[in-house]
Amino acid sequence: MPLVNTKEMFKKAYEGGYAIGAFNVNNMEIVQGITDACKQLNAPVILQVSGSARKYARHNYLYHMVTAAVEETGLPIALHLDHGASFELCKDCIDGGFTSVMIDGSHLSFEENIELTKKVVEYAHARNVTVEGELGQLAGIEDEVNVENASYTDPKQVEEFVTRTGVDSLAIAIGTSHGAFKFKPGQKPQLRFDILQEVMDRLPGFPIVLHGASSVLPEYVETVNRFGGQMADAIGIPEDMLRKAASMAVCKINVDSDLRLAMTAGIRKHLAENPTHFDPRQYLGDGREYITSVVKNKIETVLGCAGKA
Ligand code: G3H
Ligand code: 13P
Ligand code: ZN
Repeated sequence: MPLVNTKEMFKKAYEGGYAIGAFNVNNMEIVQGITDACKQLNAPVILQVSGSARKYARHNYLYHMVTAAVEETGLPIALHLDHGASFELCKDCIDGGFTSVMIDGSHLSFEENIELTKKVVEYAHARNVTVEGELGQLAGIEDEVNVENASYTDPKQVEEFVTRTGVDSLAIAIGTSHGAFKFKPGQKPQLRFDILQEVMDRLPGFPIVLHGASSVLPEYVETVNRFGGQMADAIGIPEDMLRKAASMAVCKINVDSDLRLAMTAGIRKHLAENPTHFDPRQYLGDGREYITSVVKNKIETVLGCAGKA
């Protein structure tokens, strides 16, 4: 099976009340760690690449590592551009074999966001590539930009946005945020399920995307801190809230920070316990196993997509 776009995956996920994991990839151990977990649980998956990840690892390396994972696992895998910042970047990724792109016009005015998104949709759909748009802004750090003034998605805008742009899925802001420090110490994590419900009522059957959806599990934070890290105040989105969102209209749940944290925990622990080791395969191998374990937990506890490949 070649790389797939997200159309069929999202249709099945919406109807089945589950979500597909969209995991950010930067290197071979991350690609293998994620897809090993998906293979073990027979889960479909989206592997996504941010603009800065593409600069770091380079387009061809990422493309070939992901297509190698498709060949090795036989799973339905989509290769997606995360937070595409311009038409040109989306076009480069589409021309270079990506099967799905996000055009992130969330910082623009409503009209400018529609104009840019529509242009990407026209180019992408002519090439069988699916497109994710975004309305509303998440707080947190993304591509080294720190967004402080987050704004929830206005449900009254979603029908017009989707109709005029032709997007295949829509990312909305309901209280999630990027990074490992999503709430202030003492602050109670909350998501605006009322907004999600209203969006769902206005767009029946339409796939919704949640960015900034890492759970930042305490066991990984503790491991990082036990072996020299300093992430005491890290806090994420509770798993039960994400599970509820996945049972509603949310068909794609974005996870990057949980992978970073798991890999860092595995590597820190390995090096602390084996001070004489200096072969990268030894500590990166442990990092890869930690990724597999966090992704398996995500599939079983949050996404509900085990056995859906
Ligand atoms: O949403 C942002 C993702 O976590 C990607 O982060 O731009 O540092 O690769 P990055
Ligand atoms: P996290 O920082 O919560 O993992 O979010 C990742 C993300 O939204 C990638 O687009
Ligand atoms: Zn994001």
